[in-house]
Parts: sequence; structure tokens; C-alpha cells
Amino acid sequence: MSSNKKIMVTAALPYANGPVHIGHLAGCYLPSDIYVRYLRMRGRDVKFVCGSDEHGVPITIKAKKEGITPQDVVDRYHGMMKGAFEEFGIDFDHYSRTSSPQHHKNAQEFFTNLMEKDALVAKETQQYFDPEASQFLADRYITGECPKCHAADAYGDQCESCGTSLSPTDLIAPKSTLSGAIPELRNTTNWFLPLDELSDELRAFLESREGWKPNVMGQCMSWLNAGDGLQPRAMTRDLDWGVPVPVADAEGKVMYVWFDAPIGYISATQELLPDTWEAYWKGDDAEIIHFIGKDNIVFHCIIFPAMLQQHGEYAMPTAVPANEFLNLEGRKLSTSKNWAVWLHEYLEDFPGQQDVLRYALTATMPETKDNDFTWADFQTRNNSELVAGLGNFVNRVMVLTHKYYDGVVQEPGVLTDADREALATMTQCGRRIAKSLDAFKFRDALNEAMNVARLGNKYLQEQEPWKVYKQDPARAGAALYVATQIMGIASIVFEPFLPTTASKLRGMLNQSGVPTWEQSNEEIVVPAGTQLGESALLFSKIEDEQVEAQREKLQASAAANEAAKAPSTTEKKQMPQKEDISFDQFMSMDLRVGTILEAERVPKADRLLKFLVDTGLDQRTIVSGIAEHFSPEEMVGKKVTVLMNLPPRKIRGVESQGMLLMAEDGDGSLRLMTPENGADSGAVIG
Ligand code: MF3
Ligand code: ZN
Repeated sequence: MSSNKKIMVTAALPYANGPVHIGHLAGCYLPSDIYVRYLRMRGRDVKFVCGSDEHGVPITIKAKKEGITPQDVVDRYHGMMKGAFEEFGIDFDHYSRTSSPQHHKNAQEFFTNLMEKDALVAKETQQYFDPEASQFLADRYITGECPKCHAADAYGDQCESCGTSLSPTDLIAPKSTLSGAIPELRNTTNWFLPLDELSDELRAFLESREGWKPNVMGQCMSWLNAGDGLQPRAMTRDLDWGVPVPVADAEGKVMYVWFDAPIGYISATQELLPDTWEAYWKGDDAEIIHFIGKDNIVFHCIIFPAMLQQHGEYAMPTAVPANEFLNLEGRKLSTSKNWAVWLHEYLEDFPGQQDVLRYALTATMPETKDNDFTWADFQTRNNSELVAGLGNFVNRVMVLTHKYYDGVVQEPGVLTDADREALATMTQCGRRIAKSLDAFKFRDALNEAMNVARLGNKYLQEQEPWKVYKQDPARAGAALYVATQIMGIASIVFEPFLPTTASKLRGMLNQSGVPTWEQSNEEIVVPAGTQLGESALLFSKIEDEQVEAQREKLQASAAANEAAKAPSTTEKKQMPQKEDISFDQFMSMDLRVGTILEAERVPKADRLLKFLVDTGLDQRTIVSGIAEHFSPEEMVGKKVTVLMNLPPRKIRGVESQGMLLMAEDGDGSLRLMTPENGADSGAVIG
């Protein structure tokens, strides 16, 4: 990218309806922050904006539940989220919010602009209306029976039991969650973006983008190439929380949250740079990069670009480096199930250890596929990579230089081959890291940065200045000089990833100010004669008890959350007893204990898991529709009950040779049927 570009980096505006957790951080805030810090070090003209997404129905639902206003909800979380980002060094130039007056004005201007161009089409449709609350109902405000799985409390947009996407009119016996009333269909006018007519333009835009991640481009193309193509999408809603629609006779209507939120990036830039914001959003020099999670791809690659194209004055996004999802201990992160590591809680338990989390999350970043964060991995990364690797290296350089030379970096004299080789290798690291960062490969980049510490440790181990010093103090001084240069490179290349650590390193090396990236190509970073500062503690060991406590806390808070939500047993729907069967029918069922040897997801089938089961008799493949309840990882090694003599059948192209038995609660939650006290594979049940 040429250097006169104005680079606009955005990170998805998080919904202001809950605190920030590690999934948010790993998904888009860490990669964007690392990228921006790196660009700043390269002297690029970059601006980094974000803000709270304060509209949308989940926020109004939360407010209703708690008996407060939506504004109260967003005020509570806006401050909390802003604070958490600051604590973790996510260095936005501006963190705004979509309730800001500037944003409302800007979003309305955008809307009006599209109206004037006839880019939005008014259409009358039928929507559910609550006659008691006398208002139209957002999809989430309607519940009813799922037409697919018959769960009782499916929402108007989705059934959470079976995962099916729904529209409110699909529900059997719909009910308003506001009043409990039976909603009635009424006519209402909303404004639609005719995406069906814009596909060619969108396709041309997408095809003109280069170097996009395959996961992102793949998703875009599957939208564009779907059987009936793109469909017109309503850009307004009958709701009272959001940006009011700036059209006469549109009382009680606000913009669809996905219309106004991305415009929030522009509003935030206007607040940051009232006079010069346009240079970052318009014209040939504007480079726009959106960091998001994969659930936001369609909005950033199809809908927002369509809005920008219709508006006509804005530059189109250069790149949308979306990440996949981070799981936690084998399960999907979930705010509502309280299965998460919250940043503010992490800080209480690991004060001052923000960089450790930044490190562990970057190392497991879900760049190309979903990835799993575990406390065990967190502990290992801290203890063996940060403490024993980077921390140990730095500590040896500092302690030895203070012990032998009062902390003064020695003149190296004539360098040996090994010295020159170490220096030459280290000056290559910055270039390699840059190459990875330019391609949004953050894990590779971090690993390359860690190679600097590995190089330093290896060099010290080979040179052994602590032994050499006795016979040849000058040679020990030279070796420590070289090691200090390696530490100097570490202080540069770790700045994007571990900013607090990098700043401590600079303090120890007596360097002030963030260096430029180019300095990582130099052989002399810390000149001879430099007086080193005090040795600062970088990392400390994380004990087994600490991570055990985290795992327990996770289980306990998820369980407490479930208990608080579960309807008491008397309220649960019990399935009526089925018709009688004969004793022979029962005896003909071949039930045995099996052990799960392998488990994996079935590609393109969200609900299916494929197992290899040891039944005592054989090892067989069984497919089961339980992926929403169990992860493959947690199933391996489990004892299960297998119905053996069900005729084999093909499920999504995989032959399933039997069935796993489950207990299903009235609320749709599933439990494995696991024999008490073990039991061997093959044990016959009956
Ligand atoms: N609030 C959305 C989410 O958390 C992201 C909005 S991104 C923006 O999924 F572009 F709309 F701002
Ligand atoms: Zn369902």
C-alpha cells in the first residue's frame, strides 16, 4: 500500500448490552489494535475508531426485563466497555457511541440522501401488532411453538432449541412477550434496500477486491449465488428505540440497527476530525479496513457496501479481515449462558496481567477456523513461553549486566562469527513479522516475535557469559552487548502485541518513546555505553490452583445462570406417556454401553456430530444431531448408551450404524445416558 494513503481502521461496534469478554477481544479488537499499532510504527497515516452500538432490540428487551430505560442500559455498558478496552490497551483514536447527537444527525443525512436518490423503496407489509401494548412487535418480541422441533419458546426470528431461522408468521400460537396478548397482523410501511437489484454492482465490487481471506470471500459469494439471490431488506423498523426515520409520517419508526451502526464508523471519525474526516472516507487515497467477527460478514461486505454504492460519495472498503469464533473450554462462548471470561473479572483475578491475555488470545486467534481457549493453554503459554522464554531472557541480560558491569552496555570489540550470525538473524525478524501482519496473519506474526526471545535464549545458552566472565570479562561483555541488542529488537517487535511489556523493556533499556518499525532492521539498537535501568518484573508464574479456580468459577457461574433460568420442575412440560408395547418388542432392542473414540463435526451440517464408537462388538460410525448441545472435544472418551440394531441410514452422506440415547428435558436440554460407575464397552443393557 502506498504511503500517502489515509488508512481508516474500524473495529465492529459492540452491542451495549453486556460487558466485553475474551471472544470479543480475540475476534476483532486485538487484531485491529495490533495492526494499528504496527501501522503507526511504520509512520502510516492511520485512524482507529470504534464505539458502542446502542440500538437494536436486545437492548430494549434487557431494559424491559430490568424495568429501566434502554438509555439506562446503554449508559451502564458504554462506560464499562470503554474502560475494558482502555485497560487492555486497545488504543482507539476515538471510542464513540451511536446514541451521540452527531451520529443521529449523520445517519439521518445518509438516509435522506438515499431517499432523494430513490435508493430506498417504500413497501407495505403485514407485521404482528400487540393490541394491548398498542405497538408493532419486533421479531424477538414474539414467541411461540417452533414449527420444526415444537419447542415451546421459539422466537420470531429463530428457534434456540433447534437453531432454525424463522419469521414470526412461522410460529405456531404466537404470543407477545410484552403483554402476553395474541398478536394480530396489521399493515405497515417500511423502507427497503432492493438488494435484488444491486447484486451485479455488489459482485463487481467484491470481484475487484484482492487478497481477501477465503472465509470472507466465500461467505459473500454464497450469499450472492444463493438460489433465489439477494432479497430486498427492510432498513426501517416499527420501534421506538433507534435513530428516528427522517421522513414525514414516519412516527414510531426507526432505522434498522444494521443500517445505522456501520454509519457509526463515519460518525466517530467526524467527531474525531471535524474538519478532515472526509479524507479518510472519500476519494482515491482512502483505505478502509473493517475488523469484525464472522457473524458480521454479510453486513460489512454486502449491505453496508450496497448503502455506500447507492450513496455514491464514499470509498469502498479495501479489506474486511473477519475472524471466526473463539470457543471457551470446548463450548461456544455465550453471554446469555454466562459461559465467558469477562475482561473486568479477569483483571480482578490477574491484576496487571493484561499482556498475558493479549498473548494467549493472539496465539489462539481464530483466524481461519474456530479455535478453543482453555485455561490449561493459557497457563502453559504464560509459564513456558512468557516466563521461561521472553521473561527469562530479559532477566538474564539485565541481571548479568548489572552484576558485572554496573548496568553499562559494554563495547563489543571484535565480533565473533556467532555474534554476527545472531545479529544478522535478529535484523530479519522485523521484516518477517511485517510480512505476516500485512497479510493479517497475527498468529504467525506473534510466533515470529517470540523467535526473537528464542534466539536470545539460545545465544546466551551457547555463549555462557556467566562462565566466560571469570577468564575473559571483555568477551562476556561482548556477548551481553549482543544479547542486549536482541532485547532491543524485542522491545520494538513486541510493541504491537504486548504494549505494556514493550514499554517496560524500553524503560529497562533506557529508551524513550515508541520506536519506528524500521529500527528493527538495525544492528545497533542499544549503543555501547548505555546505562540500563532497573530490572522490572515482566511475567510471573501462574499456578495450577489459579487456573483450577478459573475453571471452577466458569462451571459455577454457568450452572447458577442455568438454575436461575430453568422453570421449576412443576412448570416444565412433561411429554405424555406413549402407547404400550409388547415385552418382545422391548426385548428385541439391542442396547449396549459404548465408548466414544473419536468425534467430529459433519461439514455443512450445524447440528450433526459424527462419532466412532467402540461397542465391544465392533467400532462403528454413528451420526447424531446433538452438535448444539455438545462439542466434539467433550464427547471423546464418554461412555454412552447405543441402540445397536437400528437399520443403518445415510445422514448427510455419512452412514450411521445405530443411535446414541439421550435424556431430553421439557426445556429441550439434553443429557447423555451414561452408565453409573463406568461399565465396559459392550455391556448389554436390558
Ligand atoms: N453490534 C454488532 C455486533 O456486536 C456489530 C456492529 S458493527 C457495525 O455484532 F458495523 F455495525 F458497527
Ligand atoms: Zn425448533
